[in-house]
Amino acid sequence: MTIIAVFNQKGGVGKTTTSLNLTAALARKDMDPLAIDLDPQAHLSAISDTAVPLGENSVFGFYKELKSLAELVIQAEAGYRVIPSHFELSKVDSLFGKGPKVINRLKSGIQAEMLDQAGTPIVIDCCPMLGVLSLNAIFAATRVLVPISTDFLAVKGALQLERSLKALEHVLKKRVERRYVITRFDSRRKLSWEIVEQLREKFGKELCETRIAENVALTESPAYNRDVFRHAPHSQGAKDYEFLLEELIDSGFL
Ligand SMILES: Nc1ncnc2c1ncn2[C@@H]1O[C@H](COP(=O)(O)OP(=O)(O)O)[C@@H](O)[C@H]1O
Ligand SMILES: [Mg+2]
Repeated sequence: MTIIAVFNQKGGVGKTTTSLNLTAALARKDMDPLAIDLDPQAHLSAISDTAVPLGENSVFGFYKELKSLAELVIQAEAGYRVIPSHFELSKVDSLFGKGPKVINRLKSGIQAEMLDQAGTPIVIDCCPMLGVLSLNAIFAATRVLVPISTDFLAVKGALQLERSLKALEHVLKKRVERRYVITRFDSRRKLSWEIVEQLREKFGKELCETRIAENVALTESPAYNRDVFRHAPHSQGAKDYEFLLEELIDSGFL
């Protein structure tokens, strides 16, 4: 089944918002998704009300070889499962280095526990850095979804990212299937449309048709520990993430 890493090395572009609401949209379709929070900031865990006080009960416990991935799964009230993160996860590279074993650790764990055989999708929320943790996500994933927020450094960042993914393809010896999705889109701004044009030219069919609009419900929902569907089911944000899921399914990405 599909394992999607939601990645961009830039912070604040909508990785967590996209991971959360894509997972929630999958749950609404009864697809029983599992979200893995691989960002030591643990925002996805906090918003889903699945944060854990002890690092060993988070995905860090898996890296420390104290727990299996399955043992760390928490059922969120919102109807999906989460393997939570914890700030201790930031110690992974200093504790375990950057060798091939640690970089492939998540992939090996998922395969050994046959989580990829379960027939349910896995969404991995990455941290804003192409370090050991994000490499773990990209190596474990079958697909990469890249949110790009509509600001003036967006195109520059996306091109940098494309170069990083191309470099990784040499190591992986396969193409990294990816889609780019525009977030925080404001149709009233001329710059937003210019950015769409530039990204379309650069990424062609890999750029999703669906754009996630700048929407207050998406900004607010984390404060209430909710995904956008539970917070404001009729909002533009809820519609956009529902459309995004439909598009990803229809195009065979998911
Ligand atoms: N489409 C959107 N409309 C309004 N606010 C958004 C949108 N997407 C993200 N945000 C807000 O922007 C901030 C950064 O988003 P986040 O998903 O945490 O980014 P990242 O995980 O890439 O750092 C958060 O406060 C989030 O609520
Ligand atoms: Mg985040």
